[in-house]
Amino acid sequence: MAFLADHLKRIKPSPTIAVTDKARALKAAGRNVIGLGAGEPDFDTPEHIKEAAIRAIKEGRASKYTAVDGIPELKQAVAQKFKRENGLDYKTSQITVSVGGKQVLYNAFMATLNPGDEVIIPAPYWVSYPDMVLLAGGTPVEVVCGMDKGFKITAEALARAITPKTKWFLLNSPANPTGAAYSRAELRALADVLVKHPHVHVMTDDMYEHLTYDAFEFTTPAQVEPELYARTLTINGVSKAYCMTGWRIGYAGGPEPLIKAMAMIQSQSTTNPAAVSQWAAVEALNGPQDFIAKHNKIFQERRDLVVSMLNQAKGLKCPMPEGAFYVYPSCAGTMGKKTQGGKTLASDEDFVSELLEEEGVAVVHGTAFGLGPAFRISYATKTEDLEEAGRRIQRFCGNLK
Ligand SMILES: Cc1ncc(COP(=O)(O)O)c(C=O)c1O
Repeated sequence: MAFLADHLKRIKPSPTIAVTDKARALKAAGRNVIGLGAGEPDFDTPEHIKEAAIRAIKEGRASKYTAVDGIPELKQAVAQKFKRENGLDYKTSQITVSVGGKQVLYNAFMATLNPGDEVIIPAPYWVSYPDMVLLAGGTPVEVVCGMDKGFKITAEALARAITPKTKWFLLNSPANPTGAAYSRAELRALADVLVKHPHVHVMTDDMYEHLTYDAFEFTTPAQVEPELYARTLTINGVSKAYCMTGWRIGYAGGPEPLIKAMAMIQSQSTTNPAAVSQWAAVEALNGPQDFIAKHNKIFQERRDLVVSMLNQAKGLKCPMPEGAFYVYPSCAGTMGKKTQGGKTLASDEDFVSELLEEEGVAVVHGTAFGLGPAFRISYATKTEDLEEAGRRIQRFCGNLK
């Protein structure tokens, strides 16, 4: 009898973590490696948030278990955020707080998926979505959205993917790994399809809401179509915009029965997210927000730099994304070419492993996200490193024969 469970066979380790580990190992061995794999801001958590956490510890508010899915103060802050920024009314009984956005998604799938239930996932997607669906016993239905469609699902493609077994349509805007973000008009077109299919629920991962550029206006499905509000789980968190990936706080607003079911799953796994992190998140949501615009200005400059440098590399084509801190260039023009070391590039996995080997630049191959040949670059990295990485990528591509 096998010791390890069968469901492990359905999933794979995160390729983004694998690349980061490989880059770290090469660095430890003395190689000069620029890591562009990690999906987190290089900025530190703002000082006022850290101070709020320290106060919570000193005042004894961080020592004990809290309510399973969040302290009332944080649920209140989340409800106010949804009202202030998205025009959405959620009572605190419709709010859940978990250990990062990741646990929110996991709880939601565990609370709703039965064998055979389908989840529509536009590809390229964040690597964890299909594996989480599989772990929860559901069936991921990937819909490939190419560069020609701006990496976005169209109303027609969504309508084609819906079956009587569809339980969720999962939307991520701005998206990891492409940075693509849906305009209000694009969401309106999707909403028009969804209103015709009342059995389909909408899970929207708005984790990168605050990271948009060129005056892009963020909107979320429940805001665009009030009829969707009652069947939408609006997911967000403090990890990316507030530079708090290590604190592990994510949250969501949705229908009360779903929120209760998700709390039950959480009560039998992690119980509450760390109390100190919850108090830090209260300050993040209620405190000053001005640093976000300052960070975005830097992110936008980096995005422009990286896109421009990639488009000057032979065989690469990189669209300009609307948000997040990723770009997703196609490397189709390099396939079949030979590297200086004599290796023929047959896939994007070859491209990224040879790029790491020959030039010490770590990126993640696109097929890991469901669409290749391409790769993902995270530009949440020092500008000088991005400039150097751009030069190395240009040299690598220029040397291909
Ligand atoms: C699209 C998307 N959703 C959710 C998450 C998870 O966020 P958290 O770190 O809060 O769990 C990430 C993190 O990379 C992400 O890229």
